[in-house]
Amino acid sequence: MKRFLLPFLLLLLASFGFSQSEFNLIPYPKKVTAGAGQFTFKKGMQIQSNDAAFLPIANLVAEQFNAASGLSVVARQGISGGSGIQFKKNPALAEEAYVLEVTSKKILIEASSGKGAFYAVQTLFQLRPASAGVTVPAVRIEDEPRLGYRGLMLDVGRYFFSVADVKRFLDIMAMYKLNTFHWHLTEDQGWRIEIKKYPLLTQISSVRKETTLGHLRDRKLDGKPHGGFYTQDQIREVIAYASSKYITIIPEIEMPGHSQALLAAYPQLGCNPDKIYQVATMWGVSEDVLCPREETFAFMQDVLTEVMELFPGQYIHIGGDECPKKQWRESRFCQNLIKQLGLKNEDELQSYFIKRIDQFITSKGKKMLGWDEILEGGLSPNAMVMSWRGVNGGIEAAKQKHQAVMTPNSFFYLDYYQGDPKTEPLAIGGNLPLSKTYSFDVDQLGLSPEDTRYIVGVQANVWTEYISNISYAEYMTYPRALALAEIGWSPREARDFESFKKRLIGHLPHMDAKKINYSKAFLSQK
Ligand code: ACM
Repeated sequence: MKRFLLPFLLLLLASFGFSQSEFNLIPYPKKVTAGAGQFTFKKGMQIQSNDAAFLPIANLVAEQFNAASGLSVVARQGISGGSGIQFKKNPALAEEAYVLEVTSKKILIEASSGKGAFYAVQTLFQLRPASAGVTVPAVRIEDEPRLGYRGLMLDVGRYFFSVADVKRFLDIMAMYKLNTFHWHLTEDQGWRIEIKKYPLLTQISSVRKETTLGHLRDRKLDGKPHGGFYTQDQIREVIAYASSKYITIIPEIEMPGHSQALLAAYPQLGCNPDKIYQVATMWGVSEDVLCPREETFAFMQDVLTEVMELFPGQYIHIGGDECPKKQWRESRFCQNLIKQLGLKNEDELQSYFIKRIDQFITSKGKKMLGWDEILEGGLSPNAMVMSWRGVNGGIEAAKQKHQAVMTPNSFFYLDYYQGDPKTEPLAIGGNLPLSKTYSFDVDQLGLSPEDTRYIVGVQANVWTEYISNISYAEYMTYPRALALAEIGWSPREARDFESFKKRLIGHLPHMDAKKINYSKAFLSQK
């Protein structure tokens, strides 16, 4: 009798292992099969790899476990066997895919690239206990993402965030396999990137004399200057850091709207060259926009040339959103240009502006990305669209066979309240609990499977009018960005809010160990 009972009990235990919440993994992998027992790190144990691309990742594992345990685990090139960790190249796997197999004897990681191996290691870190974690439960995981673009945007225009802040933001993104950082570098309220040819951008446009105090509706100012910018060396430093975490950076240089700070230094690029512009101090959308003169195109092309030389990624974001047309309607130059070009209206003039910039970016071998307003007045042939005013822009782009990133404000604007405004710190408004963010699904946009392929991914945006420091930025970002990570990574079948919430609660000690500031509002929500 006993002989039969034992296998039965083991089977029962193993089947518990199949339940998602047994492993508190976020984003949940494609396939998880629980094993029996656990692997334990031992003193002097080796981490071996058969490809040079894996060595930095093997070192990362050694550092993390040694810091937690005091064990002197060492990373070595070449595989000689024995118990320990082995990284093995498997060219059959896709770039971001990996296999992670943990038994009581060893841990085997297979990937075709450093990126896949890096993601395997992020999963490994989540599998071990958050405190003094030298054990890992036996499991076999086969994993790859659902979508290729999984991003977060940080607005450093409204408030400046230091290089250290940005690195911290990237550190946490990498833990959840987010692979794209959209760096919103210019705003009405501040220009944050050094452009060698135009030094006034950092001397004048990067500093505002004061800032909105409390909520914009109160129309108060704090009387304190605020400023900051990144030198090109610092930008390079951040790009290299992001790259070590397999994160691509997309820089955003706003045009023709959101340009008041730029105009404060170079007023000749506005429609009222005699106007005295200043870097904006109040939140909101400025009517001071770029004028589509040849001089403006030449200036912006110079700026973009420096930006494209700095950033190795293929995409350059040019904004294109919220460009009030009042000054264009009132400008004799703009009205003449509309006639001369045979355009219908100011929307088509914006389209003309964006198309010229698109041509320029394309001629340099890069690709242009813009907010969904770039659809108005006709989309440039090579543009990718970022759908923010709901999902319609992305749907329209996909139907026109253009790639699109879904970042609808109704699901992914992390500056919106995530709990009761009476108890939450000041935010811009809105109501975006974790469950709502989690409910987004690219397969429910009403697109054909063929058109759905043009939706390359999802992104959440951290606009910072009410977020003046990195700790608060983290609070607004997490845990909602974890919902985004799962939407972007996990297979449709694995998506379940109750399971996610349970896993999240189990995962919180890991976030605590990293001192991540996150909101607990979801704990008291349905
Ligand atoms: C945006 O929120 N204006 C893109």
